[in-house]
Amino acid sequence: MTFDEARAQFPVLERYVYLQAGSVGPLSRATLQAMQACEERALREGRGGAAAFARLLEEREALRADIARLVGVDPSQVALTASTTDGCNVVLAGLGLGPGDEVITTTDEHFGLLGPLHASGARVVVVEPDADRIAAAVTPRTRLLALSHVLWTTGQILPVRELRERTGIPILVDGAQSVGAIPVDAAGLDFYTVSGQKWLCGPEGTGALVVADPERLRVARPSYLSQQAYEPDGAFVPREGAARFDPTLTPAAHVAGLRAALAAMPEWGFERARVTADTFRQALREAGCDVVEPRERATLVSWRVPAEASAGIVAQLAEAGVIVRDLPGRGLVRASVGWWTSDDDLDRLVAALP
Ligand SMILES: Cc1ncc(COP(=O)(O)O)c(C=O)c1O
Repeated sequence: MTFDEARAQFPVLERYVYLQAGSVGPLSRATLQAMQACEERALREGRGGAAAFARLLEEREALRADIARLVGVDPSQVALTASTTDGCNVVLAGLGLGPGDEVITTTDEHFGLLGPLHASGARVVVVEPDADRIAAAVTPRTRLLALSHVLWTTGQILPVRELRERTGIPILVDGAQSVGAIPVDAAGLDFYTVSGQKWLCGPEGTGALVVADPERLRVARPSYLSQQAYEPDGAFVPREGAARFDPTLTPAAHVAGLRAALAAMPEWGFERARVTADTFRQALREAGCDVVEPRERATLVSWRVPAEASAGIVAQLAEAGVIVRDLPGRGLVRASVGWWTSDDDLDRLVAALP
C-alpha cells in the first residue's frame, strides 16, 4: 500500500489537517464499513441468537490474537477492555493495595492512570519523568511503577523496560500514546494497556490490557465473561488466561471495526510517523515555536505557549481547518502526527500558526 492509498482511507483528511490521534484517531472507510455491516446484520437477523453470540465470541478471540501479535505477547495474556482507563482500574483493583503500600508515578500522567492509582488507597509518589528519579523513589514499600510509555504532554518516551529491570518492581505501563504510534514489545512487562480509539484508529470504547501472569492478579471486578462456571453464591472458576479480566462485552460492531483498523496499518507506518514527527518539530522550530524536544520521543509534537493563550490558539487553528489540542494548564499545544500525516498537513499547520 502506497502512502497516498493509505491516506485516502481517511475521509477526514480530505477536509481537515487532522492532528488529534492522541485523543481519537481518524476513522477509515473500511472501519466504518465493518461496523455498518455488523449493525445491519444485527438489524436483519437479531442480536441475541446463538449464532450471533457464537460469532461475537469468535471475533473477540480473533481480536485478542490481533492485539497480542501487535504488542508481542501471547493471546492468553490479553484482556479486551473498553479503554486504557479500564485496564488501569482492573490492575489497581486486582492488586489490593492499601495505605501501607506505595506506587510511583510521574508528574505527566493522564487521569486515566492517576484516578485508578488514587482510588487504590496506596500512597501515590509523584516524581519527574526521569529514569533516575523514578528509580531513586523506590522504597521497601513500593509495590508498583505506574507510568506512560509515551507521555501525553510532550511525547517523551520513558524507558519502561529498563526501569522494570533496574528496580525489580512490577510495572503498569499506560500504553495510550504508544500502541499504534511506535513499535511496542510488551513481553515481560507486567501490565500494559492499549487504547483502540487513538493511534490504532479503531472505534471508541475499545482497548486491551496485557497481563503477563494472569494467575497472579485477582479478578476484583468480575464480569459475566470472567468465569467458566459459578456457584449460586457467585463463587466462580475464572476463565483461562487474561480473558478472565474482560470487563465488558464490547459491541460486535466495535470489535469488527477495531479488527478492520488493525488490518489496515501499513508495515511502513511506524517509521514514516517517526520521521514525519521530527520534520514537524523542525518546521515548527523554524517557524518560531518553542518546541519540546525530548531526547527519546514519539509521535506527539508539543510546543510551549502562554498557558492562558493555549485554548485560543487551538480555536484559531481550528478555524483554519487545523485540528490540534492544548494541554490545559500546562502551556502546551499538541499535534499528533500519524503515518497518514502529509507534508501538506505540515505546511497548512505552519501557515495557520497565529
Ligand atoms: C497517557 C494517557 N493515558 C490514558 C488516557 C485515557 O485513555 P482511554 O480513553 O483509552 O482510557 C489518555 C487519553 O488521552 C492518555 O493520553
